[in-house]
Amino acid sequence: CPKGCVGKIFCLFRFHMANTILIGMQWGDEGKGKIIDVLTANADIVVRSQGGNNAGHTVIHRGAKYVLHLIPSGILRHRKVCVIGNGVVIDPVALVAEIDGLRQLRVNIGKNLLISDCAHLVLPYHRMLDEQRELRRGRIGTTKRGIGPAYGDKAARTGLRMSDLMQPIVFSKKLQAKISENNRILQALGAKSISFRDVNEIYLAAGEKLRPYVTNTVMYLHRAMDRGKQILFEGAQGTFLDIDHGTYPYVTSSNTTAGGACTGTGVPPHRMDRVVGVMKAYSTRVGDGALPTEDAQLAQMLHNLGREFGATTGRKRRCGWFDAVAARYAGMINGIDEIAITNLDGLDQVDPIRVCVGYQLHGKRLDVPPCDATQLANCEPIYEELAGWNRSIHAARKFSQLPTAARKYVRYISELAGAKLSMVSVGPARGETIML
Ligand code: IMP
Ligand code: MG
Repeated sequence: CPKGCVGKIFCLFRFHMANTILIGMQWGDEGKGKIIDVLTANADIVVRSQGGNNAGHTVIHRGAKYVLHLIPSGILRHRKVCVIGNGVVIDPVALVAEIDGLRQLRVNIGKNLLISDCAHLVLPYHRMLDEQRELRRGRIGTTKRGIGPAYGDKAARTGLRMSDLMQPIVFSKKLQAKISENNRILQALGAKSISFRDVNEIYLAAGEKLRPYVTNTVMYLHRAMDRGKQILFEGAQGTFLDIDHGTYPYVTSSNTTAGGACTGTGVPPHRMDRVVGVMKAYSTRVGDGALPTEDAQLAQMLHNLGREFGATTGRKRRCGWFDAVAARYAGMINGIDEIAITNLDGLDQVDPIRVCVGYQLHGKRLDVPPCDATQLANCEPIYEELAGWNRSIHAARKFSQLPTAARKYVRYISELAGAKLSMVSVGPARGETIML
């Protein structure tokens, strides 16, 4: 504690319970849902700041599997408040379905959920445009949830927001104009047009169901911080899907890096205390775009184990070796203080294990990923090999219980990524976690 308190119980300022940003250091699907669930134990509020229902955060709780898309993963814990911040794009119908689905699983949703009135809406024409673009040249393998077109409207200043949906007359008027504009585009693309009446009715009904949760979340968060509450910022997707720092154009349309936690919630940078980076013990990616260390044999082995299928779309994830060039860059951009390594058990039967420590491009060695997509696609990884451990590590609960080769591997990759190792996940359940 910077105030000099000696222990948690005596700290009047709760500084040791710092505001924490959790970030994916790779291409998404790093296992953030599980790590968030573990970290939520020490938080009061869990906030999503970007992305939409393209995200799929899997949490195993009391033997049941929950996949969260829009609602922060803290919803599964008692007495935690979950906030969907202004930077998130919300499909109101999908959100209502997610709330209903969780209620059926007996998850309590009431005063513990808040939705920003400034969050932009994902509407059916966004989804249809996303689908149409994915049929054409230049596709990027999106989740087809309408995320790109919705953020496109936001940047073009023609989007509809949660606050519009809370005013039915305003919403209907704006929606009608947007639908007639988008129907012309959809017709030109040879797609079906959309009925204003149907969409208006369905979305207004969803809006009424969401009304109790919609508020100014910026004010809520600031008041909560003034009362000493601790916030956990739940990043979605990963660093290399960031619209600015990712492998453009094969990226999502939001800032998935640490800065997005500020802009997407209204919490200023100086209130952020630590950044935890989550990385898999190997690399995966869904959708198109370069994955320099991609390895078909490793992918087949992981798929045969039933691992690495997308939580949102069910697509097979592409797999590759751990990429330290990418991880180091992610560590730098996000200011990662601590690292959580997940899916270490996925490498139980792999020997030797390869780690990419540099790229080779046209005879030159690179230590940072190039910005250009074609150059990145042409990069050849430079590998080092480490010994595997050839046994199951599921039961390990202390660092000392991991085989020597596994300890060496995680220490080495976190050192390459440039931050201290604080957690190792050896299985999907909450308990299958080693805290260092
Ligand atoms: P979009 O976010 O649906 O526009 O998809 C853009 C790219 O990001 C595609 O390659 C998707 O597969 C990828 N993507 C989006 N959300 C996630 C996620 O939560 N995990 C992993 N990849 C994602
Ligand atoms: Mg996911």
